[in-house]
Amino acid sequence: MEANAEDEIILSSLPIERGFGTPGMCLFQEFWCPSTLVKGLNIFHKQFQAKESDIFVASFPKSGTTWLKAITFAIVNRQSFSSIDNHPLLTSNPHQLVPHVEMVCRGDLDCSSIEPRVFGPHTPVPSLPNSIMECNSKIIYICRNPFDIFVSAWIFFDKVKPESLTSLKIEEAFEMYCNGIIEFGPWWSHMLGYWKESLAKPDKVLFLKYEDLKDDANFQVKRIAEFLGFPFTQEEENNQVIESIVKLCSFEEMKNLEVNKSGIVFQSVENKSFFRKGESRDWVNYFSPSMTEKLSQIMEEKFGESGDIF
Ligand code: A3P
Repeated sequence: MEANAEDEIILSSLPIERGFGTPGMCLFQEFWCPSTLVKGLNIFHKQFQAKESDIFVASFPKSGTTWLKAITFAIVNRQSFSSIDNHPLLTSNPHQLVPHVEMVCRGDLDCSSIEPRVFGPHTPVPSLPNSIMECNSKIIYICRNPFDIFVSAWIFFDKVKPESLTSLKIEEAFEMYCNGIIEFGPWWSHMLGYWKESLAKPDKVLFLKYEDLKDDANFQVKRIAEFLGFPFTQEEENNQVIESIVKLCSFEEMKNLEVNKSGIVFQSVENKSFFRKGESRDWVNYFSPSMTEKLSQIMEEKFGESGDIF
């Protein structure tokens, strides 16, 4: 799959800003896309052919993507890996097992030919390919408190950015964040897009919250499995299969695996950078009262009519 010359000309005329960890982001189809990903996104948008059985684990970066990819992979492949001792999640990072679809389209990552294929897009709803919306493939979206996303993103992107890019002070990053200028931002339209789609098509889009997964992972894993059409049998429930998936994918287990302590995904990004604290409300350790007030106001403005999101 290739972008054509006309696409290249359009892309070179887009507004550009620096991102949290990216030297150049383009305002592509009304969201901030790292310029190195524009080609992959464009191909994804125009040419990707979804299969009926495909599953898309969609998210805004730093919302719990890694966790949900692990859980989804473990749920749909549980018949093939019934013994936890040799489970692929013990030796591969979830981003290797569930690839970023934009990178697959750019030609950097392979996708499995085994069905169901599970992909992880960061693409907002309006830029998803029609083939996804028109077939029976399923989308699970993970949403997280924007306060925690900000802290997680500021720390993560500073670690993975190219050395040549200066570090952003928290105040600078916060200003950008409040203006929606962050990789795949604005974050509010990203969340609202999937939220509205989940209300309009509840069989198609499941809207999950990081905080709910933290509160009761067993319940949410059962819910995800039912939504995907892979419900747990009574026998599996009796055999504690749900509990073993929750444990396998837990922050403590995953963070301490050798592959996640020393491995690398996407060129130079270390696997360990995807596992920091894994907690809710860590933002209280970073926000000043004025930052808290400003972000609360923005959330009120953006989500006022969709209060149920948070
Ligand atoms: P923190 O930086 O707040 O710790 P993403 O996977 O979308 O990049 O999100 C990364 C965030 O999810 C990080 O949050 C990371 O620590 C947390 N995370 C990663 N794996 C997790 C898991 N198994 N359980 C809970 N949180 C996890």
